[in-house]
Amino acid sequence: MPTAAALPDLREWLLEHHGDTVDADRLPAIRTELERIGADDVPGAVVELGCYQGAMALWMRAVLDATGQQQRPIHVYDSFQGLPERGEKDPELFEPGFLRAEPQQVLALHDRWGCTPPVVHPGWFAETLPGQLPDQIAFAYLDGDYYDSIRTCLAACIPRMAPGGALIVDDYADLRANPRAWNGLPGVKAACDDHFGTPSTLEVLMGAGDLAFGRYIAPALPAGRVER
Ligand SMILES: C[S@@+](CC[C@H](N)C(=O)[O-])C[C@H]1O[C@@H](n2cnc3c(N)ncnc32)[C@H](O)[C@@H]1O
Repeated sequence: MPTAAALPDLREWLLEHHGDTVDADRLPAIRTELERIGADDVPGAVVELGCYQGAMALWMRAVLDATGQQQRPIHVYDSFQGLPERGEKDPELFEPGFLRAEPQQVLALHDRWGCTPPVVHPGWFAETLPGQLPDQIAFAYLDGDYYDSIRTCLAACIPRMAPGGALIVDDYADLRANPRAWNGLPGVKAACDDHFGTPSTLEVLMGAGDLAFGRYIAPALPAGRVER
């Protein structure tokens, strides 16, 4: 199980071997969110919607373990058939089936680093969500790339967010708030706009490069009300 001292090594290794999906902005941004749910004692699981080969899932496990959150489960979801057909709001960037991975790759990656593997839920989001989601979510990372995928994930996850929990949408490019954001997958922001309404309630996170992260924080319970 990695300690805080091992995180820099893991970071370097992930950047070298999984730089197609994780980068020097995403890793610290996700770490910050996980440290906060630990410090604030936000109840619930961590979920990743669109896990591909499991690089970010591994980082999340390592950060949780290094911050005293060994008991917090991680659930990951993916078609393991790659991307679906794009919708009309998605660009002609990738072929269907691009980013195909195997559940075994996720498990092997965790094994390599001595980490407890996540609970893996193979299947299209429309089939696995919301039924296979944990009842309460402390942190959700949505990385499904396409309009329909993100809408399905938002509809399933938002009602399950614990008070004070955080949900990050990757590839959310709000160019007015962050002109540097990578805007290669505009269906992602369109899905958020249609879910939350405009102007969007998502907070834009900035990085040193072209990070495109939108963050939703679930409202705290009204004073005096206790979550059951
Ligand atoms: C960019 S990759 C995820 C990368 C991963 N989060 C990481 O950081 O390493 C996007 C993934 O979303 C999955 N995906 C997209 N739409 C999906 C859907 N509707 N149902 C299930 N998986 C989907 C794809 O199979 C792909 O593996």
